Amino acid sequence: MKWNDNIIDSLDWGKDIARRAEKEKVANRIAAMVEDNMTLGVGSGSTSYLALVKIAERVKQERLKIRAITTSLEIAMACARLEIPTAGLESGRPDWTFDGADEIDPNKHLIKGRGGAMFKEKLLINASPKTFILADHSKMVKRLGENFPVPVEVFPQALTYVANALQQELRPRCIKLRMAEGKDGPLITENGNLILDVWFDYIPAGTERAIKQITGVIESGLFMGYDIEVFLNS
Ligand code: 5RP
Repeated sequence: MKWNDNIIDSLDWGKDIARRAEKEKVANRIAAMVEDNMTLGVGSGSTSYLALVKIAERVKQERLKIRAITTSLEIAMACARLEIPTAGLESGRPDWTFDGADEIDPNKHLIKGRGGAMFKEKLLINASPKTFILADHSKMVKRLGENFPVPVEVFPQALTYVANALQQELRPRCIKLRMAEGKDGPLITENGNLILDVWFDYIPAGTERAIKQITGVIESGLFMGYDIEVFLNS
């Protein structure tokens, strides 16, 4: 039974979407690949959101039955508003996943996590037989770390330990605790953790594993060597 007044219905993306036209083109491309009865892994960020909107249009027009496994609350709420049913990984694997990225290098290594959702994004990508990364030209870089830090989600009590270990073992240019917008103090992730934004001048092979090995690290936004296909509007 539906709510009479549902606050979710008043939600949109909420901010201006940069390079919206370019993002909508790749969104259309991924929406065209959806088939009846599919379970989709749905990434986070504005590009994934636009793709979800396009998918919802097809679902309505063609009366498709699909399910979404979401990577963030923002996308779960968008699914509720767009009337796309959601499920968890316990009910099955996605047929495929789509997601955005902050940076993509020539080897298809990624930085993700501007939106702070990299833990569930990595979970979905690992759980999916196939992942499509939707990008606009601003995301393509020669070297990872050009424009974005590597976000590292950290168990709160381990914050100083992890920051020290990252500095000693990986020698980044700088490490910043990500602060919240709309709340005083640090940003708290959906999993109740903190985020360290780690700026590197150079990210060698093995960095993702080296970060993950530090006790207290939940996950990083570095994706090196994943089996992904990049959809770039050209
Ligand atoms: C969120 C992400 C996003 O996919 C990434 O930040 C890209 O966002 P946008 O599509 O808004 O540019 O990793 O954690």
